[in-house]
Amino acid sequence: MKQDMIAVLDLGSEENPKIAREIRALGVYSEIHPHDITLAELKALPNVKGIILNGGPNRVVDGVSIDVAKEIYDCDIPALLVDHRGDAPWPADDGERETALKNFIFTICGAEANWNMDNFIADQVELIRNQVGDKKVLLALSGGVDSSVVAALLIKAIGKQLTCVHVNHGLLRKGEPEQVVQVFRDEMDANLVYVDAVDRFLDKLAGVAEPEKKRKIIGGEFIRVFEEEARKLDGIQFLGQGTIYPDIIESGTKTVKAVKSHHNVGGLPEDLDFELVEPLKMLFKDEVRACGKALGLPDSMVYRQPFPGPGLGVRCLGAITRDRLEAVRESDAILREEFAKNGLEGKVWQYFTAIPDLKSVGVRDNRRTEEWCVIIRAVNTVDAMTATVENVPFDLLQHIMTRITSEVKGVNRVLFDLTTKPTGTIEWE
Ligand code: XMP
Repeated sequence: MKQDMIAVLDLGSEENPKIAREIRALGVYSEIHPHDITLAELKALPNVKGIILNGGPNRVVDGVSIDVAKEIYDCDIPALLVDHRGDAPWPADDGERETALKNFIFTICGAEANWNMDNFIADQVELIRNQVGDKKVLLALSGGVDSSVVAALLIKAIGKQLTCVHVNHGLLRKGEPEQVVQVFRDEMDANLVYVDAVDRFLDKLAGVAEPEKKRKIIGGEFIRVFEEEARKLDGIQFLGQGTIYPDIIESGTKTVKAVKSHHNVGGLPEDLDFELVEPLKMLFKDEVRACGKALGLPDSMVYRQPFPGPGLGVRCLGAITRDRLEAVRESDAILREEFAKNGLEGKVWQYFTAIPDLKSVGVRDNRRTEEWCVIIRAVNTVDAMTATVENVPFDLLQHIMTRITSEVKGVNRVLFDLTTKPTGTIEWE
């Protein structure tokens, strides 16, 4: 193992991710573990040079003050108690805090500042090989950042012992399924099962206008398709998952209640009993991107904007029809191309088009038309809870309007959504 580690043990602090990030910022790898970790489990973690007992307002659980096992206090690994309630106060001043942390990590624990992506990848490759042995791993590869980075890491670690399943449900953006095949099958030589499930999804969705019903159908059908593929493959014992650290935080810890339950690939039947391989579960999003870059994934995959699981399904408003689905896919591709050309890619947090189930009167080549309209949405946010609207230059909007109305079949109008969140949400359904 190449990296030293400082283990943060959660004694009810709300600042576990913050302190882990501060330690990583000093160049030392850090992981957060629950307070009831045993000494044997702690010792089994690679290269633990020190422990931070991170106490805080949630230290009292069900009337009892939680603590780590006595044997952990007594062991030979240096420990620092931080208590955000004031028993062992942690300096509020950032400079003092950094000095205290540096003193503990480097002077007392003797840790080395050897946390970087190359070392992280080397360590994870070793850990994955140890976990998996000569067995096989299955991964649902959507082409999103997290699943792509996990795929690249697993390919590096175990090559053809990994089978990736890419389900094309017909609701992906233009060029995405092709990019998944090109990057993973052609360039990385992965075992990739490409499932064309477009008709299957669109048939199930036909006539369904209610957004939550659409989401349920898409999620449920995805699991069924994936399950069918899993059953075709023999001897799979592990399931790779692109769980990242914020997913774990949102699902709650032993001391902090869940924000929301999180399922990356939830709901597989119980007889498909896989052990999980989750090599990114201790990384924050920016670190996942850095990992993907270090593994050679293209920027267009690593830095892509967030995209909802149900994909274009929730941007083709109301009951999905193939003509409107194509119109939203094509107009979205034009919007993305123009934003990239004009320096807005990477600046605007999320931008896309949506197509309502609405036709309006227009005129084309001196003839009256009755065609669809397309809505442009471009928003900025920190946490997706609130959002502001990007001030897109008017001449660029007009240029995009001209392109969409001339290049996208069946569209005669383009609208720009001025609404902040609240009162609007980012998506339209
Ligand atoms: P809203 O529309 O709630 O969106 O303001 C906030 C963020 O969440 C994304 N989003 C989804 N992501 N499944 C997802 O994985 C969904 O059903 C879903 N709905 C919204 C949205 O794109 C935005 O980034």
